Amino acid sequence: MDSTKITVAKATARRKVSEARIPAHESTVSTVAPVDPNAGKTKILFVASECTPYIATGGLAEVIGSLSKALAATGRFDVRVVVPLYSDIKWEYKQQFNYIGNIYVPLAWRNQYCGIFSYEKDGVTFYFLDNEFYFKRPGCYGYFDDGERFAFFSRSVLEIMPFINFFPDIMHCHDWQAALAAIYLKTNYCFNEQYQYIRALFTIHNIEYQGIYSLDILSDLFDIYGRYKYLVEYNNSINLMKGAIECCEKFSTVSPTYAQEIKNPYFAHDLDPIIRRNEFKLCGILNGIDYVSYNPETDTHLFANYSAENLSGKAVCKEELQKMLGLPVKPDTPIVAMISRLAAHKGLDLVTTVIDEILQDDVQFVLLGTGESHFEGWFSDLAKRYPDKVSANIVFNGDLSRKIYSGSDIFLMPSKSEPCGLSQMIAARYATIPVVRETGGLADSIHALENGYSFTNYNAHDMMYVVRQAISDYKNKEEWTKLMYRAATSDFSWNQSAKQYEALYEDILK
Ligand code: GLC
Repeated sequence: MDSTKITVAKATARRKVSEARIPAHESTVSTVAPVDPNAGKTKILFVASECTPYIATGGLAEVIGSLSKALAATGRFDVRVVVPLYSDIKWEYKQQFNYIGNIYVPLAWRNQYCGIFSYEKDGVTFYFLDNEFYFKRPGCYGYFDDGERFAFFSRSVLEIMPFINFFPDIMHCHDWQAALAAIYLKTNYCFNEQYQYIRALFTIHNIEYQGIYSLDILSDLFDIYGRYKYLVEYNNSINLMKGAIECCEKFSTVSPTYAQEIKNPYFAHDLDPIIRRNEFKLCGILNGIDYVSYNPETDTHLFANYSAENLSGKAVCKEELQKMLGLPVKPDTPIVAMISRLAAHKGLDLVTTVIDEILQDDVQFVLLGTGESHFEGWFSDLAKRYPDKVSANIVFNGDLSRKIYSGSDIFLMPSKSEPCGLSQMIAARYATIPVVRETGGLADSIHALENGYSFTNYNAHDMMYVVRQAISDYKNKEEWTKLMYRAATSDFSWNQSAKQYEALYEDILK
């Protein structure tokens, strides 16, 4: 740290946890107190590798973007979010960011430039950390040096705190890319008085990706001293997710059912002994979705708007979708849709096993997504075999996804495992009936006949039976309309979940 930063840092009043509710204007260090809108609020710093609307590859980004906003809206939190400044962040956003300065970040023998940009929106302050060597590349992940890139990012998060004059009460780290922030806090930083009251919460959005590296690079690349090796060592490798679980005060997952599931080897990708040993600090909180963005009454991507009470616009959405995708316009033929990453754990092998049988019914099938090439090829081929019944869209397209959520009748999500899943909630809000497998957040959000259909066993014919049940129930217009109403009015807003995070933060700060 250079001397300027130390001066800034010294001028920073670090409130003790026991004083966390004392407004800043009553604290002993205030001089001519400027009015601080965040005075007295609990300070939360989200550390994550992506965040909507700036940069997104999946559900993690949506949760970071919408949960931060929901927490800020309570008026009780000063919420800030820090993410890398990737070159893929669109210029329309970048041009609004404010450059607030730069620091040099030490990591083992490296000393790297870190530019800091900030931006405020919806009561949340966002920080974007710039280093072109690490982040001026297409996409977010998949590089040989991802370990080093996110080590730099995590270390920078701690290093910028004196510079931005913000030492959070809770540093809330998400997924393995932010795991090192919690690990560095509890190894290298917490002995410094400015950092000593920061508490760490680690949220697992998907246990499959743990950040596993060779032990050889422990000190040279991750700058973790030998005496702390035991924290990150697992199965003869470095496991960053394991390290964060060991270091944090509490850790959570994105649904209560998934919190139970990851104690079991079937779901835990080898980490179950660590989860079980630390289960005293584990909890599960179901994600919500952004009710402003996902609102069929106002969504500008839709062919027509509609509401749970008046669904007439949904018929227009369906007709226009059928035209757009080149399917016969048939108002009474149900459209079964899937919007999914084409990855094995999404249950695609169940679909490929029985879709030919399902297509014997009077039904259309619409797919949107990219992923594993064998699935991309398989579904493209399916569309060629059934040109009048199947539309396979092997692209990532936000606009088309909303047209499909609104224009379809049944939404299929047969995941083998699903930490939370947001698509089933979006579909329900758009009155498209979810058919899900009872796992993780799917089991916590969709309840048979209340707001959708579900099946228990990971079995293609169990799935087929339930899909066929939905197709047949669809013909009973009166009952189906009631089901659509119940689905569209299920509460998937952040209201409940933000309260649960609030309680969790309070618990951690006790
Ligand atoms: C991950 C999970 C998904 C969850 C999302 C947001 O992408 O796979 O189930 O909804 O994170 O938490």
